[in-house]
Amino acid sequence: MAIDLRKENIKMENLVKELNEFLADLNVFYRKVQNYHWNITGKNFFVMHEKLEEYYDKINEQIDEIAEHILILGKQPLGTMKDYLQITKIVEAKNEKIKEEDVINNIITDYNTLLQKSIKIKEEAEKQKCYETSSMIDEYILEYGKNLWMLNQSKL
Ligand SMILES: [Fe+2]
Repeated sequence: MAIDLRKENIKMENLVKELNEFLADLNVFYRKVQNYHWNITGKNFFVMHEKLEEYYDKINEQIDEIAEHILILGKQPLGTMKDYLQITKIVEAKNEKIKEEDVINNIITDYNTLLQKSIKIKEEAEKQKCYETSSMIDEYILEYGKNLWMLNQSKL
């Protein structure tokens, strides 16, 4: 019953727009992190190569969860790279070798973008009383905050 009421709520469009923008960011970030996994160079290659794989595997799970969550809300998730590239805030990586320091700085920027977007989704979900979205996104906020702490520690 509650879900039917929300479908009628025109303000839900804002929340779905935010979720689709987040889905776009996650898709472009996935490609970027795997690109870095291939092209990173430096003394910590073995550790960083593994860590980046761990990151993109997690992002892949999040892509699926967010797309399916949009469907659960009765809306349509964006599914093409063309759509994602038009609306994402994530800047793609180039097809070239990159030093580990630059990788760390760039993904710190991107995890900050994802954290800010998650917080925005949380706030919008609470406003619309969409508590499924609100509780789902808590895990993302915690994870991005933790990743940012660890990445910043690695620079000291
Ligand atoms: Fe690999």
